[in-house]
Amino acid sequence: MALMRRISHFLLLCLVFLSYNSHALANKWPAGSSTRFYEFKVQTTKVKKLCKSKDIVTVNGMFPGPVVYAQEDDRVIVKVTNESPHNATIHWHGVRQRLSCWSDGPSYITQCPIQAGQTFTYEFTLVQQKGTLLWHAHISWLRATVHGAIVIYPKTGAPYPFPYPYEEHVIVLGEYWYKDVVELEGKVLASGGGPPPADAYLINGHPGPMYNCSANDVYTLDVVPGKTYLLRIINAALNMEHFFGIANHKLTIVEADGEYTKPFMVDQIMITPGQTTNVLVTADQPIGKYSMAMGAYMSARNVSFQNISAVAYFQYAGATTNSVSLAARLPSFNDNLAVKSHMDSLRSLNPHDVPLEIDDNLFFTIGLNVQRCHSSKPNKSCQAPNNGVFAASMNNISFVRPKVSLLQAYYNKIHGYFSADFPGVPLKAYDFVNGAPNNIPNNTQSMIGTRVKVIEYGSRVQLILQDTGTVSTENHPIHLHGYSFYVVGYGSGNYNPRTASLNLVDPPYMNTIGVPVGGWAAIRFTADNPGVWFMHCHLEIHTSWGLSMAFIVKNGEGVLETLPHPPADLPTC
Ligand code: C2O
Repeated sequence: MALMRRISHFLLLCLVFLSYNSHALANKWPAGSSTRFYEFKVQTTKVKKLCKSKDIVTVNGMFPGPVVYAQEDDRVIVKVTNESPHNATIHWHGVRQRLSCWSDGPSYITQCPIQAGQTFTYEFTLVQQKGTLLWHAHISWLRATVHGAIVIYPKTGAPYPFPYPYEEHVIVLGEYWYKDVVELEGKVLASGGGPPPADAYLINGHPGPMYNCSANDVYTLDVVPGKTYLLRIINAALNMEHFFGIANHKLTIVEADGEYTKPFMVDQIMITPGQTTNVLVTADQPIGKYSMAMGAYMSARNVSFQNISAVAYFQYAGATTNSVSLAARLPSFNDNLAVKSHMDSLRSLNPHDVPLEIDDNLFFTIGLNVQRCHSSKPNKSCQAPNNGVFAASMNNISFVRPKVSLLQAYYNKIHGYFSADFPGVPLKAYDFVNGAPNNIPNNTQSMIGTRVKVIEYGSRVQLILQDTGTVSTENHPIHLHGYSFYVVGYGSGNYNPRTASLNLVDPPYMNTIGVPVGGWAAIRFTADNPGVWFMHCHLEIHTSWGLSMAFIVKNGEGVLETLPHPPADLPTC
């Protein structure tokens, strides 16, 4: 009997061990949903990049941070200890947080920050979720270095809807500054002007040979001729959108934002911060060393940005290592057509519940503003055009972060931290793309406030996101927490319900949408997850300037439609 018990104990241990280490192949995962435990230590780490050493904030000393591996429907538990001197939170970007809004992570929206020396344990279930997502810090600009991949394998026995790749690789795109990013945010906001360009772009933490003093800091992906690879590409950059491509190789897009798409072959992808794109690539070219490049997509006018690409190598076994056979060619930085053709190619593989009827018909403008200067030192603190101060807004309201988290204020019915009057449509209609609010030319100002939009449980929402040209038109990557949404339409110019054509058949199901420059996008979702859900531009400087708002989705009926109580260790402000 004792022996039997010991044997079964041993078998159990083997299983646990297996479930922790068999990341490489999905079809080796044990049956049934399980719990995955991770420990994240947010800490200060020394790195040397571009010939200079500096301290950055990382998770577990890794940059990019550790990959969170799991399987569809798994429970994920991450104990986050903040050993850094900064306040911190972690957001699980693209995780829909079914009835677990408390673990979503945006600071001052769903939680107060985890203070230095404190711990908070995030817990959520990956309900009907698989694919590539990302986690990142959601406070100040810490996300620049505190980020990593989430890889969710399908359920055991559920194959990929494409030929099984020979290998899978995570490709994390980032931006790097010599300066401390937390200080940098403070300085940029105090200046009233725009942010400086990144000093380099990074592919899996490596800038590649094109920058000063970076010749040997290159990521290399070794490939076997004839084999097909799945690349899980994540854009974790802070303030820029990017093109990504591999010289002479076609990419077949098979997944976007953790949802399968109809396969589509492209020369390069456009990927915004917060988006994830899975592509298949076959090593079907003559044996060689090909460059993989990440370059700028900048659709706004008069913005300085880093226009040198990060380069990595896609290197065939048997290639001579010291010469690059071919350099990757990317579209030019303002190639809006290349972006449109990428968008046109995105179609859901299995759309299941595209809302056909609409209960809440919303229309939000998105864009930049310039506020009047109120400083006595305009040269120092009003460096936006016309001696103004940059801001950004939705429906011309610049979001102001509250002093306690919205979710805590809402849940505990503490008044005074927000108002529930975020307008469902702009307060004044005007020519959004070509005009200025209030129809007064040169009046580029926004209102400020902490306003939320309250939505009934189960409401079917359509939201038109409309870019404005108040300062400059620009492609803004808008991210919604707590949901994926169907991108049912998009176009250029002002949205016109009479001429807009919508795709209700196979629209892509995403969590971040690059709204076309000087154009609009229409998204739909069913508000069936109660909580407070942040929506914002994933260009971090625009969030700093107020390009955000929050939805409150009310509880429905019964426990399955009600947000549970907060966890006991939820940080206080
Ligand atoms: Cu990826 Cu609110 O962020």
